[in-house]
Amino acid sequence: MLKRNIPIEPVIKWSGSKRAVAVWLATLLPETERYFEPFVGSGAMLAFRPSQTAVAGDIIAELIELWQAIRDVPEVTANEYEARWHRLQKEGHTAYYAIRDSFNATRNPHDLLFLSRTCVNGLIRFNSNREFNNSLHHTRPGISPARLRTIIYQWNSVVQGVEFSAADYRETLASVRAGDLVFLDPPYGGTKGRYVPETFNLDDFYEELQRLNTIGAKWVLTFDRVAGHRAYKATIPAELFQAQLALPTGNSPFTKLMKTGIDKVVESVYLNFEPPAKLLNQVINLGQQKLRPRPCFDMQQSRLFD
Ligand SMILES: C[S@@+](CC[C@H](N)C(=O)[O-])C[C@H]1O[C@@H](n2cnc3c(N)ncnc32)[C@H](O)[C@@H]1O
Repeated sequence: MLKRNIPIEPVIKWSGSKRAVAVWLATLLPETERYFEPFVGSGAMLAFRPSQTAVAGDIIAELIELWQAIRDVPEVTANEYEARWHRLQKEGHTAYYAIRDSFNATRNPHDLLFLSRTCVNGLIRFNSNREFNNSLHHTRPGISPARLRTIIYQWNSVVQGVEFSAADYRETLASVRAGDLVFLDPPYGGTKGRYVPETFNLDDFYEELQRLNTIGAKWVLTFDRVAGHRAYKATIPAELFQAQLALPTGNSPFTKLMKTGIDKVVESVYLNFEPPAKLLNQVINLGQQKLRPRPCFDMQQSRLFD
């Protein structure tokens, strides 16, 4: 059984991470025996999943390989980062761009971890040829290898019991059955194409939600509606969900990067089940508090599970 309300530092920096609201979202997840997360990204919700047994997927194969490495070979993962980090301190920006070229040529997951921890604002961006194209964050040295090693081992503990799958979300969800819980955090309207081009079609997605409803699986979905003056018109068809809540979020990192001013992101959470009234009060109260994730991990027990 997993303990809740214990945020830990992210191991992978990822655009669109749910880290800032993970504690809040976790209060909405009902108990289940099997948990599915088909758009896992940096896995902010994995630390809060209500069952140890889980299936997590993403369309980016290198990201999934990195998760598998964190789960299975944490020492190697930490050493690989350490070697690249020392190279960066010694050789400067040429090392970063050599590692970026290497990643684009070989898709080495350890290169991806290094890039995610040293690129500008930790923003993962691919061009239409699937090449990683963000630059070095010149004014920061990147997280120290010793600190990242500790975080890697924390996440190694968190993801035991998680089966990772490099696949389209529909494939990851193919084995869902009645009573399973699915957490969905699909690519935003405003970030479409930043991860990989043309991998997400809304009509197909709605069809999948309908399929999950028919099966009798529960789902919790985060979806954004408005970022400042730019309204992402997509609204979830009313017949698909039972409840909708406003997600307490901050500013859009994407708008910030594009220097078009900082827009307020208004995001919704949709559920295909009615949350109990007691739970709703808890969710609303937590939403009114300032949500600021703190690194916190039970170092004595050195694990997250009861
Ligand atoms: C908003 S991010 C998820 C962020 C995640 N919740 C976190 O906390 O880091 C959306 C993810 O969906 C993935 N993705 C995009 N299209 C997909 C598809 N068709 N099937 C599976 N994953 C997809 C992207 O690679 C990206 O990691």
